[in-house]
Amino acid sequence: MFLLGIDIGTSGTKTVLFNEQGKALASYTGEYPLYQPNNGWAEQDPEDWWKATVDGIRAVLNAVSEAKNERVAVGLSGQMHGLVMLDKEGKLLRRSIIWCDQRTGEEVGQMNRTIGQRRLIEITANPAMTGFTAAKILWVQNHEPEIFSRCAHILLPKDYIRYRLTGEFATEVSDASGMQLMDVKNRCWSSELLTEFNIDRDTLGTMYESPQLTGTVHDEASSATGLPVGTPVAAGAGDNPAAAIGTGIVRQGRAFNTIGTSAVIYAVTDELRLDLEGRIHSLCASVPGKWTLMSCTQSAGLSLRWLRDTCCSAEVEQAKSENKDPYYIMDKLASDVPIGADRLLFLPYLMGERSPHPDPLCRSAFVGLSARHNRPHLIRAVMEGVAYSQRECLDVFREMGVNVDTMTVCGGGGRSKLWRQMLADVYNCPVNTLKVDEGGALGAALLAGVGAGVFGSVEQACEAVVQYNDPQLPSANANDYEPYYALYKKLYPALKPVFDELAGV
Ligand code: XUL
Repeated sequence: MFLLGIDIGTSGTKTVLFNEQGKALASYTGEYPLYQPNNGWAEQDPEDWWKATVDGIRAVLNAVSEAKNERVAVGLSGQMHGLVMLDKEGKLLRRSIIWCDQRTGEEVGQMNRTIGQRRLIEITANPAMTGFTAAKILWVQNHEPEIFSRCAHILLPKDYIRYRLTGEFATEVSDASGMQLMDVKNRCWSSELLTEFNIDRDTLGTMYESPQLTGTVHDEASSATGLPVGTPVAAGAGDNPAAAIGTGIVRQGRAFNTIGTSAVIYAVTDELRLDLEGRIHSLCASVPGKWTLMSCTQSAGLSLRWLRDTCCSAEVEQAKSENKDPYYIMDKLASDVPIGADRLLFLPYLMGERSPHPDPLCRSAFVGLSARHNRPHLIRAVMEGVAYSQRECLDVFREMGVNVDTMTVCGGGGRSKLWRQMLADVYNCPVNTLKVDEGGALGAALLAGVGAGVFGSVEQACEAVVQYNDPQLPSANANDYEPYYALYKKLYPALKPVFDELAGV
């Protein structure tokens, strides 16, 4: 049997066809735009996700001739928290308001007033979050009542793709616990919250555990994609819980750190643990019967991409003429700059922040900029700022008694040896990488493998497939980062009043 993992990301959808040994046989990424109609807003068109999925499935099936005669099981993974609303005919009612959208400050206040902060944490394991789906649904209720009145189905991004493939309205615990509508301890929808938020239970999908099968590919999807009618589709997981499976983080004591558009640190726990200050999230794991602690910062790779796109056209041009990746050239420039970027600090809050400062109004800053700084300093400062933002999150895990022996770093940022060494030094902990880094797509495919009976359990799937490269150890430079990190930590509290005032000007 072949295992097909589909990961609906923010910059694109990645579709990968694997064999049962977890070897990637073919891969395709279809990109699409992010719409930012207002400062702090972020939307995508779910039709774009579907087109990228169709292109991806067709491309990988065509690339592997044996796929025609082999059975395939599909697993889905995707950006978490995004709101997709459909009418009763299954037609899209508006663009999706996605995870990094920060328009819902008022609705977070409304959630706290109606339910109470403590009760919300008791039920959903998290304080009201601007990025989570419930606040987005309330925003549509408050600002687009006509659309809300026609809403018959509420789905998460990957669950919309499931609907297009199978016709089923279904979700699973790892992604749904990021909607803030679940009783996270009992792994089911919370009727108390649904009543208070005026959300009809029937608009939400059937709840599964991640490895369960949720339906099969129907006629129309079969004609669009080339997958045979009847191909099973597993529940899958949110992109981070799926990546946890693709990185083998299925037992307590291990963690991974994705440096993608956002950055995540993710650890599995045997029981539900809560951070009452809401600095990091508690969610259901994609491993049945387990939970997770997860931090998410909004703009990690996004900060470097922003710098590339706004300031590094020379490096982009050079990369084009040398047929290299612009990030490779930027990385080289940053490696010649000393630790601390010659006393330049960067706060990576381009899209507000979540962990450990849930604050939609804060914004980025370079602090200490002088006339002698140039682009390489800016690049190094951005990379270091992202590393410090992750260390601030890791400190919360450590404070909660979750110690990480080795951090598995993945995502685009994990490909940079320089950035990985920075992380090992700033965390003072060994950092390793995966032999095969296919992110959520591999995790989703392995979940499909469990659902289809190829593996006995999620743990067995990881044991059979996931392999690591040797770790990079903290270097003699580790201590040199400490004074800069100490200063970095002072910046958010110092600038918070300025951010608040700036947002109101
Ligand atoms: C996690 C989160 C992001 C998205 C990005 O809480 O919001 O990691 O899932 O894809």
